[in-house]
Amino acid sequence: MRARLKIGSPKRNKKLQTGWEGFFPYYAGFPEQFVRDMLESAQLGAESVVLDPWNGSGTTTYAASQLGLKSIGIDLNPVMIIVARARLLPPSEADHLRPLAATILSQLRSAPVVMAADDPLLSWFQPDAARLIRGIERNIRRSLVGGITKSPDGIHLDKISGTAATLYVALFAACRRFAATLQSSNPTWIKLPKADDDRLDPTVYAVAHQFAENVRGMSDALAARQLIEDTSGLDFAAAASTIQLSDTAKMAVPASSIDFVLTSPPYCTRIDYTAATRIELAVLGPLLKVKPRDLGRQMIGSVQVPQDTIEIDESWGRTCTRFLAGLKAHPSKASGGYYYKTHLDYFDKIARSLGRVTTALKPGGRAVFVVQDSYYKDIHNDLPQILKEMSTRKGLTFSKREDFHLRSMSDINPGRKNYERPAGATESVLCFTKPA
Ligand SMILES: C[S@@+](CC[C@H](N)C(=O)[O-])C[C@H]1O[C@@H](n2cnc3c(N)ncnc32)[C@H](O)[C@@H]1O
Repeated sequence: MRARLKIGSPKRNKKLQTGWEGFFPYYAGFPEQFVRDMLESAQLGAESVVLDPWNGSGTTTYAASQLGLKSIGIDLNPVMIIVARARLLPPSEADHLRPLAATILSQLRSAPVVMAADDPLLSWFQPDAARLIRGIERNIRRSLVGGITKSPDGIHLDKISGTAATLYVALFAACRRFAATLQSSNPTWIKLPKADDDRLDPTVYAVAHQFAENVRGMSDALAARQLIEDTSGLDFAAAASTIQLSDTAKMAVPASSIDFVLTSPPYCTRIDYTAATRIELAVLGPLLKVKPRDLGRQMIGSVQVPQDTIEIDESWGRTCTRFLAGLKAHPSKASGGYYYKTHLDYFDKIARSLGRVTTALKPGGRAVFVVQDSYYKDIHNDLPQILKEMSTRKGLTFSKREDFHLRSMSDINPGRKNYERPAGATESVLCFTKPA
């Protein structure tokens, strides 16, 4: 008999984002408690491996490590790789952070910062501030990104130390704070300044101070976790966790190696997962192997028209095929063109990824997907049902679905105001097993 899974609410609660958690962007995450309940109730053995193929800010890998479970977290966005690695930093490192930040700042005085004329930070910040941010970034890289992370084709961001990742997160959070005035009504979108004069202009002192303050806050929050560990029996980051920069549509996780998959796949609501982290990608500019635009194209949920022609695959299931037919025939502008093509791209990538996830799962293993429905104008995009059908076609057996109503949709789909449709969205928790 398999253990019965405890399905808590996957809804995010902003109030919980304090302390150590408060420094990490939760742009589409599920709460730590949800993951913890799920993994605890699964009663996995000591050697079990948990996979989150769309690990985002690393909630799954973090909760798994707290429970002493081995885990693998995959994401295609280098920013999220750094965030997920930082989140795994053991509390024993808390004391090192502040002196490191002080060294990094003091090195700015001894080594002048030479900036490339096309440095992406210059699109966001006035030159003096941009130069200081680049200087801090360069010093983190020089001090903490060591030999094993370097290769002839650049730095492997998924191998940098947890300490380096944490200092990057402190710098990300400083940039985000200065960019608060550029936040649009869409929570995932920060507007790029239109003209040079509109660029952010914090003083050099403010930048250095904010970075140091963030490091101090992270160090204190980490030390507080040590106290919890001492009293709760939880052993933070005791288990090995691997964070991989990879595209799930092409990933090569060994077949039959995973006991439990817990994930929230990219939504089909025109969230551009790289646009949500544009300012962080600008900080990482010199380390990126792919241009942000090309990265955006590779993402599941990309808003760019795919370069190759994609045909509907019968394995996508009936609900998906029907939805696409309705979308293609919709009389509104660009439905049969741009929107049809970008939706084809979404379903093609998600179907290929689900195939790989299924292969990676051990016979008898389980998979849980948290997924939200949405609307394309007045057509219901029943993503939970679509993923249920797709996963079944890929070889998983469906076992349970639990729905949670959300008051608002993380939706920037067109037609919100002009079409009749219910308010809010449904977030569904879908559970599967792989036949033994
Ligand atoms: C809904 S979010 C996951 C959020 C996560 N549960 C958390 O707690 O932060 C989906 C993630 O999928 C990633 N993603 C999108 N396309 C991908 C691809 N082709 N391969 C791997 N990751 C991808 C995005 O970068 C994003 O972080």
